[in-house]
Amino acid sequence: MNILVTGGTGYIGSHTCVELIKAGHDVVVFDNLSNSSEDVLDKIEMISGKKPKFYKADMLHPDELEPVFLENKIDAVIHFAGLKAVGESVAKPWYYYNNNIVGTLNLISVMEKHGVKNIVFSSTATVYGIPAFVPITEECPLGTTFSPYAESKKMLERILSDYQKANPDWHVVLLRYFNPIGAHESGLIGEKPNGIPNNLMPYIMQVAIGKLPQLRVFGDDYETPDGTGVRDYIHVVDLARAHVSVMTKFSDEASTYIYNIGTGIGYSVLDIVHAFEKANNITIPYQVVERRPGDIASYYSDPGKAERELGWKAEYDLERMCKDSYRFAKNSLS
Ligand code: NAD
Ligand code: UD1
Repeated sequence: MNILVTGGTGYIGSHTCVELIKAGHDVVVFDNLSNSSEDVLDKIEMISGKKPKFYKADMLHPDELEPVFLENKIDAVIHFAGLKAVGESVAKPWYYYNNNIVGTLNLISVMEKHGVKNIVFSSTATVYGIPAFVPITEECPLGTTFSPYAESKKMLERILSDYQKANPDWHVVLLRYFNPIGAHESGLIGEKPNGIPNNLMPYIMQVAIGKLPQLRVFGDDYETPDGTGVRDYIHVVDLARAHVSVMTKFSDEASTYIYNIGTGIGYSVLDIVHAFEKANNITIPYQVVERRPGDIASYYSDPGKAERELGWKAEYDLERMCKDSYRFAKNSLS
């Protein structure tokens, strides 16, 4: 298939390009490079042997999307482009709603104009809010969100499924990612956050290479086995492979399909710290501090539906996630 990857130079997008190329697909990328850089395309080529065709385009400017669709016969779109920093979204709600929602509406318009009717959308487990039950299945009701970022994802899920209802020949696939970490084993591509990281693994990576002195563990008084927060961490390459599996769905009945993409295993903050130390034979200094506002104690997926319907299952364990994260940190973040 000829697949357009929006946000394809970003963290998850770049890994997905590699896996799509490995599976024999042709890949076209657009990205405005607001949170990534063009040299990622060379790295994708180094790993996969093929450089995706690239357009520097902003989804807020429909005229920049037009040539992408005019010059390529696109079969499906995997839509990663978006802003994702939770804290920044609280400070700049207009910027987040405008970019994520208006940008996606523009994308839908240009797809409609060019008769492209297959889309995979990057959603998040955050749409479940404080989950009604754990492990979380796709039947779990959506919850109250705590940031404009999360709300933009919830709204986009609704927009895309409403759109599909009104246009029953469209295939819409909503993937709710749990916590992606890790990097490609080459150490060439991975997550490069701007400034001080907010998320756990990027923070640990900076401590590991000596850029930050110690990790702050946000609370050890949750109702979890060791008192620290529990999440479902998934290797980004497993997550990328889930997108490749979704491509088979486009020959099934047109509909809206929803899948949790996680491992089904919950690890605490201290599990991650200790696994990272063991896998890489280093010490991560940490201090327990107050809870982070808005955090919940524990959530992890039931990923069974993706396995049953897509034939996809996460394969990489926590040791592998920690080793690959550290390799990338040493190669690319020092
Ligand atoms: P990322 O920031 O690395 O990649 C997103 C890419 O989109 C960036 O390269 C950025 O330059 C581009 N972009 C942003 N606005 C754009 C615009 N207006 N036009 C064109 N390009 C634009 O993020 P990521 O971690 O790879 O996440 C990819 C998607 O998955 C995002 O939609 C994110 O919200 C979602 N997601 C990520 C996580 C996570 O933990 N990383 C979890 C759940 C969902
Ligand atoms: C966060 C976002 C979520 C987003 C996801 C992307 C919030 C409230 N939620 O989820 O919307 O989709 O990232 O992966 O920001 N922790 C520490 N010290 C740190 C950083 C984190 O102890 O320096 C702890 C947190 O309290 C939490 C766990 O590590 O228990 C994971 O945190 P994080 O990586 O930020 O992910 P989430 O909070 O699950």
